[in-house]
Amino acid sequence: MSQHPETKAIRLQTQQTGQKEHATPMFLTSSFTYDSAEEMGEAFADDTLDVNIYSRFSNPTVDEFIDKVAVLEGAEAGVATGTGMAAIFSTFMTFLSKGDHIISASAIFGSTHTILTKYLPKWGIEFSYFDMNKPDSIAALIKPNTKLLYVETPSNPGLDIIDIQAVSDLCKKHSILFVVDNCFATPAVQQPIKYGADIVLHSATKFIDGQGRVLGGVVVGKKDLIKQLYLFIRNTGPSMSPFNAWVLTKSLETLFVRMEKHASNAMHLAKALQNNSKLSWVKYPLLPDHPQYEIAKKQMANGGGILTFELKGGVEGGRKFLNALKMLSMTNNLGDTRSIASHPASTTHSKLTDEERTAVGITPGLIRISVGLEHPDDILSDIVQALEKS
Ligand SMILES: Cc1ncc(COP(=O)(O)O)c(C=O)c1O
Repeated sequence: MSQHPETKAIRLQTQQTGQKEHATPMFLTSSFTYDSAEEMGEAFADDTLDVNIYSRFSNPTVDEFIDKVAVLEGAEAGVATGTGMAAIFSTFMTFLSKGDHIISASAIFGSTHTILTKYLPKWGIEFSYFDMNKPDSIAALIKPNTKLLYVETPSNPGLDIIDIQAVSDLCKKHSILFVVDNCFATPAVQQPIKYGADIVLHSATKFIDGQGRVLGGVVVGKKDLIKQLYLFIRNTGPSMSPFNAWVLTKSLETLFVRMEKHASNAMHLAKALQNNSKLSWVKYPLLPDHPQYEIAKKQMANGGGILTFELKGGVEGGRKFLNALKMLSMTNNLGDTRSIASHPASTTHSKLTDEERTAVGITPGLIRISVGLEHPDDILSDIVQALEKS
């Protein structure tokens, strides 16, 4: 009997132990034992054997988490990492070599930008950026040594969206590996592999956890690609802890209902704030005036839990807005049950000049709201009263 993804997110579980536990067990162990020297010898001789040796290599709780994400993303296999950045860095290290070229959207998470601009060039890997709003510019950037194309859609924090199918078609034509960071959407909202992406990765720290507790990362894709990545992670060590995997696999049980509520709350706020006199604009993937609204409608089941707006009061307005909030949390994380407000220009991106910020899509009064699961009217009234003071 084929089951719906919502059911699989709940029911796919490690085989029950003799204790007859109902909730999935946690295998908090560093290593595993053998019945004989011969069995141990075999385990080490063949790294394709499906046997647990050491939790840097594999662990049943981590495997349950990986298997669920792979099923939800429509992927053959996966591998988990300690953080989202470890997932991204391991992917680059596995599939790029000295002399290769990577093409990336310029609208990407800050630490990913740092890897591309500061670290990869140290190892002889060059990069080119393109503007998510100008996908036609990608083709001209392709060179004989282009190996990988990287996007976040929707992007953090600008909520730019790209047509996954169109980019994938271009990548296939030129034998380029297409990697999508699906952190903002989650597989409950968008499955990039369905549209041709080769590899999908996540910061599981965000909506997958959903309650701001643990860090984690996960990468899924075809078996042969994941095998290469697995060997890199197994040997270099950015593996996921079984404790974090247990928290995250339990979180996946509620992912679908949470994402629907995050999205309906976000849509409620987006509509209510659209004509607020303190704002120049409001951006949300499923508002018809989002520049890529038609693409969002095609590839996303809902608009997700993040919305942004621009304060007319600029950088100073942003500071006043944050200080006036009574309920929303001031923190840099996102994807929590608790609504969070952040103002990149006065915090994470304060050291950049106005020109540098504009180049990465961060305007002076840009506020990012990670819309939580509180009652939407309570979130709205806190934002509205803080806007009055901005
Ligand atoms: C889109 C995106 N990718 C990757 C990361 C990095 O994830 P982590 O903080 O789990 O390393 C983040 C963190 O905010 C993110 O927003």
